[in-house]
Amino acid sequence: MKILGISAHYHDSAAALVVDGVPVAAVQEERLSRRKNDAGFPLNAIEWCLDHVKLDPGDLDAVVFYERSMLKFARILTCTLRAFPRSWRSFPHAMKNTLSEKVWVRGVIASHLGVDRRKILFTGHHEAHAAAAFLTSPSRRAAILTADGVGEWATLTAGVGARGENLGAPGLQTGGTSLSLLREIRFPHSLGMLYSTFTAYLGFAVNEDEYKVMGLAAYGRPTMLDQVRKVIRRTPDGAFAIVPEYFEYQTTATRSYSSKFVDLFGPPRPSYEPIDVETAAGRRFADIAASVQRVLEDTLVEIARALQQETKLPDLCFGGGVALNGVANARILTESGFERVFVPPAPGDAGCAVGAALYADRLYFKNPDRDVPDHPFWGPAVDADHLARAAREDDQLVDELDDGALIERVAADLAANRIVGWMDGASEYGPRALGHRSLLAAPHAIGMRARLNRDIKHREEFRPFAPVVTAEAADRYFELPAGGARLARFMSGVFPVRPEWRAELAAVTHVDGSARVQVLERSMGPRLHALLEAYGRRRGIPVLLNTSFNVAGEPIVNTALEGYSTFRRCGIDALVAGSAVVTKRATASAKRAKEYVA
Ligand SMILES: [Fe+2]
Repeated sequence: MKILGISAHYHDSAAALVVDGVPVAAVQEERLSRRKNDAGFPLNAIEWCLDHVKLDPGDLDAVVFYERSMLKFARILTCTLRAFPRSWRSFPHAMKNTLSEKVWVRGVIASHLGVDRRKILFTGHHEAHAAAAFLTSPSRRAAILTADGVGEWATLTAGVGARGENLGAPGLQTGGTSLSLLREIRFPHSLGMLYSTFTAYLGFAVNEDEYKVMGLAAYGRPTMLDQVRKVIRRTPDGAFAIVPEYFEYQTTATRSYSSKFVDLFGPPRPSYEPIDVETAAGRRFADIAASVQRVLEDTLVEIARALQQETKLPDLCFGGGVALNGVANARILTESGFERVFVPPAPGDAGCAVGAALYADRLYFKNPDRDVPDHPFWGPAVDADHLARAAREDDQLVDELDDGALIERVAADLAANRIVGWMDGASEYGPRALGHRSLLAAPHAIGMRARLNRDIKHREEFRPFAPVVTAEAADRYFELPAGGARLARFMSGVFPVRPEWRAELAAVTHVDGSARVQVLERSMGPRLHALLEAYGRRRGIPVLLNTSFNVAGEPIVNTALEGYSTFRRCGIDALVAGSAVVTKRATASAKRAKEYVA
């Protein structure tokens, strides 16, 4: 059976193709359209997925959209009308925005793809998040938690799933797979919207820069917990409720916090002003970030703990955009009572394309359970020949090496503090570069962080860079709790760097001594694993700095030529794809000069 999953119209549109129960292709629209966080209908992504396995739209058995768009429209209409007359100004905008192709999704899909309208299905948004988290995990029986900004109405759900059996829940005996969301918290009460509101207040871009709040939090102290708990209260049933007068997102799309919110927390940060955490103003913002981060963590830990006590299951699958918060994920792992926590590589809305397709396969069509390969590499492959040809035509230095020689050569470059663009096979699905579209660098000196920021990433000084380490050596350098390596497989947890290694790993150690480490097993990335080992032989530590291969404001590179174009425009010293290693002429001559002097 061939099922296409689609997520679109909010942010990070994506398409995914599931054939005979297994994902065979998945890509975010932004990687192909080259518009960061592209929210448009993902025509490029759909076309690539179908081309990749040589299918026509007519071959599809079903096309599944990742939310019930009419229900979502009803929620927007209801909330806007409830707030009338306060919302009268925003009403025309909300209706114009929603009454476009966002509502008439069945027609849009049918006309773009030419498929029979009866083949077009819809999942609940959090069902898609839950399926993306549970059905891609190796767990056969797990508690499930999802949390995001909002779908149709739900903002957080808690449930259980079983593969190859059923949990005995009525109506859920569905050919070997059960997925039952037992409870939900509804809009406007939303941890995702709470965090996004603080993201906006702190002068960052909503739906994009939430991780900057997490990065900034490490510089602050949670001195404003009482104030944050005034705007979001725990309820006696273990849930939470925002206090509406502090927020405006429930009535308008243009402003997320109210003047009462500003009275409580002080003036917001203008987005154009740089943050300097050495100043009193900068520390106030860092303290506010630390406070909302702490409340988010505490709330999630308590909800997860209650779910563990209720289900008595050792595994938790956690999905939704909130599951991108690696600090919270690590606390859930260590404090909620779950032995293992699985977060998929794309827990946000893009991942719902895979989730929706898998949900339809297992729960709607009741196809038998299948194990899904445990990696995120479902995107377009890089073409090394293209890279070599383009670089030669551009008069750059190209070496084509066998694998062993290439690994040693790149390890030597990294040990000499060169920055390497590393492209390897199919691109990652999800927001994180996990070794197929990565920039790699030596992790030791703090100066490397400044260089990457200045020459390539052009981003705020307070944001940390992440390390990648071989699975065999991870415990030596990082304090990983039981289950921590699993969470770190897709860079989903933030853990302490062992104090004795912090000076040696200064470029990847955050100000609070933590790191969002990727723990790499050989089977998931054999070439990068070999590179880490070769680097370890040279510098004593099999750890590298690993950041996404893109410059500020652009999506992660997809093709070899996009990688090459980025390489030419910024301070990357060497570029690798397949057997080709490209070096900039200036760097090559500088290297020869250095060798000559030596
Ligand atoms: Fe979502």
